[in-house]
Amino acid sequence: MIQNKSLKSLNTFGFETVARYFSAPDSTDKIEKLLEEVQKNDIPVFILGGGSNVVFSKDFDGLVMCPQIKGMETVDENGEHVLLKVGAGVAWDDLVRYAVENRLGGLENLSAIPGNVGASPVQNIGAYGAEVKDSIVSVNGIFVEDGSRFSLENGECRFAYRNSIFKNELKGKTVVTHVVYRLSKNPVFKLDYGNLKSELQKYSEVNLHNIRKSLVSIRADKLPDPGVLGNAGSFFKNPVVEQREAKRLLELFPSMPVYPADYSDISTGKVKLSAGWLIESCSLKGYRENSIGVHHKQALVLVNYGGGTAAELIRFSQMVQNKVHEKFGVKIETEVNII
Ligand code: EPU
Repeated sequence: MIQNKSLKSLNTFGFETVARYFSAPDSTDKIEKLLEEVQKNDIPVFILGGGSNVVFSKDFDGLVMCPQIKGMETVDENGEHVLLKVGAGVAWDDLVRYAVENRLGGLENLSAIPGNVGASPVQNIGAYGAEVKDSIVSVNGIFVEDGSRFSLENGECRFAYRNSIFKNELKGKTVVTHVVYRLSKNPVFKLDYGNLKSELQKYSEVNLHNIRKSLVSIRADKLPDPGVLGNAGSFFKNPVVEQREAKRLLELFPSMPVYPADYSDISTGKVKLSAGWLIESCSLKGYRENSIGVHHKQALVLVNYGGGTAAELIRFSQMVQNKVHEKFGVKIETEVNII
């Protein structure tokens, strides 16, 4: 374990915080040994992936563990599918690129999302009409408390919009070591979200490769590159509300966008509003206070222009939440995990 490690380069906002201990184990055995040590010495543990969805509000008086297990292995295959077991430390977009290059479908709409494979089931990452839950077979890991290993099947992970068992009942209790994905040899393309179809018109053929290229370009156009401008993608979740609540708002704001809460289950009776639209409608798009602001192209994204602190960001985000609540009576929750 390294002591007093700066986390500045390990969170995409670029905030300066320090972890009392730090380790980047590259195997399940090493993680097991570390957990044994921290349990013996009663040291709190925080599992950090790519740092693209986390804000440390203060120094962490414990062990920050950054699993670096690499590797992708085909564990089963038939005429239709490939089951691929992937290490938690593989960069998410390396996996998507690998799948597309090998003509395997299912992940292409999730192109260019920052972060690591280990975080994909925790957040149930999603974009452009796809969610990773639709491709996950199982999640393997280790329980922090007693070092025992587990494998949870898809149905046991309680996936929902940007949510899973790992953010609820098992919050802080597990280290994901591997994820098994089912990828399709005969992919069905999902092209209905946003301007994906029109972007694809630039290409002569609709295939995995061109879908990926289109999405990389759409995202680069709208979302700031964390390497250039500190941010963590969507800072807030899109709020899910009862239909009658949406109806009340639509009478007041007829142009408000409304989507089904769950495309795979429209029977929930709930609908999703667009937090970006709500924030923009409070005239906050592009608004800035010192080093922290709302991005000028996508109001769901908060940015650190440099030199900002986590405390400033948290204060700023509460101001945004309050403005939206005052105007619409809707609570927007943070998607980013504040530690
Ligand atoms: N909108 C605005 N103003 C804005 C942003 C959005 O009016 O500043 C409205 C527009 O009506 C637009 C609609 O919101 O048509 C949807 O916008 P967009 O397609 O940009 O998606 P989003 O709902 O704002 C979600 C995800 C993104 C993901 C996109 C595309 C969440 C919290 N965010 O954003 O995910 O890339 O859809 O699928 O669900 C992330 O999680 O970090 C992330 C970037």
